[in-house]
Amino acid sequence: MSNFLYGIDFGTTNSALAIYNEDTKEIHSTIILPSLIYFYSQLGPGSTPNYVVGEEAITAYLGDDMKGRFIKSVKQILSRSSFSETRIQNRRYTASDLVALILKELKTRADELIGQDCKKAILGRPVFFDDDDTKKDTLAQTRLHKAAEIAGFTNIRFQFEPIGAAFAYEKNLLKKENVLVADLGGGTTDFTYLVLDPSKVGSKDRKNDMIANGGIYIGGDSFDSAFMWDKGTPYFGKNTQYEATPGKVLTVPKSLFANICSWEQMNFFNGLRIKKDIEDYYYFSGNDPQFKNLITLIENNLGYSVFQSIEKTKITLTSANIAKFSYDQMDIKIDEEISLSNYEQVIAKDVDRIANYLDQFMSQNNIDPAGIDSLFLTGGTSMVGSIQKLFKNRFPHVKLNSGDNFKSVANGLAYSGYLFEN
Ligand SMILES: Nc1ncnc2c1ncn2[C@@H]1O[C@H](COP(=O)(O)OP(=O)(O)OP(=O)(O)O)[C@@H](O)[C@H]1O
Ligand SMILES: [Mg+2]
Repeated sequence: MSNFLYGIDFGTTNSALAIYNEDTKEIHSTIILPSLIYFYSQLGPGSTPNYVVGEEAITAYLGDDMKGRFIKSVKQILSRSSFSETRIQNRRYTASDLVALILKELKTRADELIGQDCKKAILGRPVFFDDDDTKKDTLAQTRLHKAAEIAGFTNIRFQFEPIGAAFAYEKNLLKKENVLVADLGGGTTDFTYLVLDPSKVGSKDRKNDMIANGGIYIGGDSFDSAFMWDKGTPYFGKNTQYEATPGKVLTVPKSLFANICSWEQMNFFNGLRIKKDIEDYYYFSGNDPQFKNLITLIENNLGYSVFQSIEKTKITLTSANIAKFSYDQMDIKIDEEISLSNYEQVIAKDVDRIANYLDQFMSQNNIDPAGIDSLFLTGGTSMVGSIQKLFKNRFPHVKLNSGDNFKSVANGLAYSGYLFEN
């Protein structure tokens, strides 16, 4: 019987598990699972929890008329100290319980492939889970560790996600190089600068090869939120006017719309509390049809499907100069053309923040751009044109390399078995 360990990249949008055979020192296979959970509106037989994880969560949510709880981007709550638990189907779920559902699904699928109950896992973690608040960061890692235990792992180590990506890239190198790795995901953008050397793959002490790590809490989800704010919310009444007092007309508060722009808020947001306010604004707006769309969106849990359309527009714009932003559910109808340059304006603030962080990372760590031999970009968001341009502009002398945007981190984590040695 061979010995295995798993490299697990628990991501905001996608999670991946690489099965590593410790005897042959090879990756057996890599499984990808969207980080999605759907809790049905009804309990299972005998009042058991009733949920699905991964790609099936989307079909289940649509088939259940979107009446249950659809949970996306659950990674973002790991660092929220204000979040202790949520009630779903009459049970309490902590952040670790929710994350464990995803890890358990990955483990079950992988265990089936190797015919063993593997207890050994190297989990990836972003360089910063949130900001530089070490308390929140520790909380997030502790919660992730707990989730891995609930999922059935007993021998657990952590590795920075971008180092995982770097180790995957190292396998393809022919000579020693100074490499800047950028992993641009759904929730975070992480950088690492290190010396990669194909002759050192799998070796025990890599500490001296790591020159710098850093990260910022911006990723593809931020782009989608910015798009929702700019292009989506006008369809949900952001510009609706209402009669506050007789003769006094005001625009509805913009703060109402922040809730529908971020997943974290949409997932765990108590619709009831603001429902009354929303109904009042609707009445005093003279039943504005755009504002009615906001009510339809909240009451029918349509958030995920709107964000699916937004993501589709974003993905089309990675290879076209124009894309449709369209949506057609119940009374909500959106059909607008978005040009690439317009999209780039929408996400410019976030891209600038990434650019500023990169500059700060370079200067704080005294990294001379001329000393960089190669760049490795990974993660779904690395495909966005503005991001590619940013790296080309900053490092015109260095070729951009990429690998499998969704598997690199997990594969590289699996090559980090040395972590069990000390
Ligand atoms: N073809 C594409 N073009 C642009 N963006 C894409 C494409 N495919 C996926 N994305 C975006 O990439 C992000 C997901 O990337 P990835 O799977 O690397 O993230 P993650 O690992 O789940 O997140 P994180 O590492 O931040 O926790 C999402 O925001 C998604 O919309
Ligand atoms: Mg990732």
